[in-house]
Amino acid sequence: MLGVCYYPEHWPEELWASDAARMHALGLRMVRIGEFAWSRMEPDPGRYDFLWLDRAIDVLGAAGLKVVMCTPTATPPKWLIDQHPEILPVDPATGRTRGFGSRRHTDFSSQAWLAAARNITEVLAKRYGENPHVVGWQTDNELCCHDTTLSASPAARDGFRAWLAEQYGTISALNAAWGNVFWSMEYRSFDEIELPVGAVTETSPAHRMAWFRSSSAAVVAFHDEAVAILRAHAPGRFITHNFIPMHETGIDNHALAAPLDFASYDNYPLGRADLALAAMTAEQFRPWMRTGHPDFQAVLFDQTRGLTGRPFWVMEQQPGPVNWASHNPRPAPGMVRLWSWEAFAHGAAVVSFFRWRQAPFAQEQMHAGLLRPDSTEAEAWPEIAQLAAELGDITLPETTQAPVAMIVDVEAQWLCAIERQGAGYDYTALLWSWYGALRQLGLDVDFVAPGADLSGYKLVLAPCLAMPTPAAVEALRDTDALVVIGPRSGAKTRDVTIPDGLAPGPLKALLPIRVLSVETLRPDCPGVLAYDGADYVSTRWRESIDPGEAAVIGQYEDGAPALVRHGRVHYLAALTDDALLSALFSDLCAEAGIAVTPVTGALRLRRRGALTFAFNYGAAPVPAPAPDGAAFLLGGPAIGAHDLAIWTHG
Ligand code: GAL
Repeated sequence: MLGVCYYPEHWPEELWASDAARMHALGLRMVRIGEFAWSRMEPDPGRYDFLWLDRAIDVLGAAGLKVVMCTPTATPPKWLIDQHPEILPVDPATGRTRGFGSRRHTDFSSQAWLAAARNITEVLAKRYGENPHVVGWQTDNELCCHDTTLSASPAARDGFRAWLAEQYGTISALNAAWGNVFWSMEYRSFDEIELPVGAVTETSPAHRMAWFRSSSAAVVAFHDEAVAILRAHAPGRFITHNFIPMHETGIDNHALAAPLDFASYDNYPLGRADLALAAMTAEQFRPWMRTGHPDFQAVLFDQTRGLTGRPFWVMEQQPGPVNWASHNPRPAPGMVRLWSWEAFAHGAAVVSFFRWRQAPFAQEQMHAGLLRPDSTEAEAWPEIAQLAAELGDITLPETTQAPVAMIVDVEAQWLCAIERQGAGYDYTALLWSWYGALRQLGLDVDFVAPGADLSGYKLVLAPCLAMPTPAAVEALRDTDALVVIGPRSGAKTRDVTIPDGLAPGPLKALLPIRVLSVETLRPDCPGVLAYDGADYVSTRWRESIDPGEAAVIGQYEDGAPALVRHGRVHYLAALTDDALLSALFSDLCAEAGIAVTPVTGALRLRRRGALTFAFNYGAAPVPAPAPDGAAFLLGGPAIGAHDLAIWTHG
């Protein structure tokens, strides 16, 4: 199913009916509206104008489109900010109050903000909760994009103090837990505690960890309340949110997703590639400039699906050049179709394009739409028409559980931000490299939260479980899968101290080893990791370990243990090159009975039920790695440039 993001408030009402008819004719069936329209919904305090929105929904519904309504809390209007200037957040880096004039100018600790958000959500939910055309809701929009999780306002400080008092009970318990005797940081009461910003040099890691945790909890509480209001007034309607993935915002996305029916993701492959691949040389980057990196969409789709374990939506799909990266190229012909098919391969239920018509005004006027500002069809239009026709011919089976699970841990992300120790240690890059190695083996991967049930998986990977909870340890103990745990796991207690008896702390229940010390290296000054008769690279982060009773299966250049195994569980004590990961994972797949299909270059695979999808991100045709006699539903044995093939394998 396909959809589109539409802003009726941006266009003369006379255009709505023809827009809706053209959407339907293109094969679109969903339309998302309303996420930035607060100033039109409530032009003055307490004076609502919903007549235009009633008519817009009627026009869209009459054309056969299903409406996804949004709460407009990403863009509170000027009158609200003037009434309550304390709603504005304070930038922790500069100490300056962030101003009105774009979006996300709100502080999650401001009581005035929480009351205003509650009110508009309730008014909207009551008005449209049972509207027959409104089939579901999106909460807010990309919560905490533009770095807005943290605020250094007085309200945030007060909220932090209250949260600390609740967590620690007494100030002496907090002083002891944080080690505040160090540098005379001891407090006499919770009221003495400031936010960990603006100090001369680094603040206590425990202090920062607590601030990250409490700030994430404040956003989750804000969101939970919006969901509860919608549930009360919109019976039978789904509720979703379009997440910023990879814990990039510092919010615990698993907690944020908990009350939702499913998670959504906004897919901008070229904008993201421009930022994420900025360190590549021109030669390395050019092949992906108009396609995005072949693993990048997949990893984010898989993570989004993993937030609820249910089919996800792509709520916004890039249809042409965007406006917000450093460079904004045009997608290669075929890529809008390919990215959309890839989302379906990874378990999407709906792909919805952003946006219907390019706006000739304001901040995003250089951002492509499906239509140009003059309403003529833009470049992606024929690809979407083709996609809609293809989707009409193919029944997509349910997404099946992958053989491999990867555990993602927001606390590892927080720890990485707080105590990097070596500039080369980056949690997101670590996840990406382990995922990339699995994709090179043609494997499907599910992302799960620490502590999630691991039954059914044959291989479980935990690239970093920074401070594992008892539930996370139990889940690893209960699985029959082979397990690989990466460096820095169990490295800290909840208060960011070194655990009694050294790392890996509670993971010693599975791995009776001790981490004796850590060194971090420049990426261009690596060491060796010898495994199974070959020399690989150990780099950036290297631990010296006492293997205890574990068997040593990999060594550093001096013969010291770098990779050990105890029963089903492996501990990799260093960051490595991709070749070591491929060798290790392919050996473990053979042992676990997981079939692999190694792929190289620009080809990637993904299964959904009995269907195998093969995506060619490259500019030259490649053979489809389909078995003899495979029945092709789309494409054939040679996959063209920026094209795909689908065959049945069951
Ligand atoms: C998204 C956002 C949209 C729009 C889009 C532009 O992140 O949700 O509102 O700004 O980016 O690419």
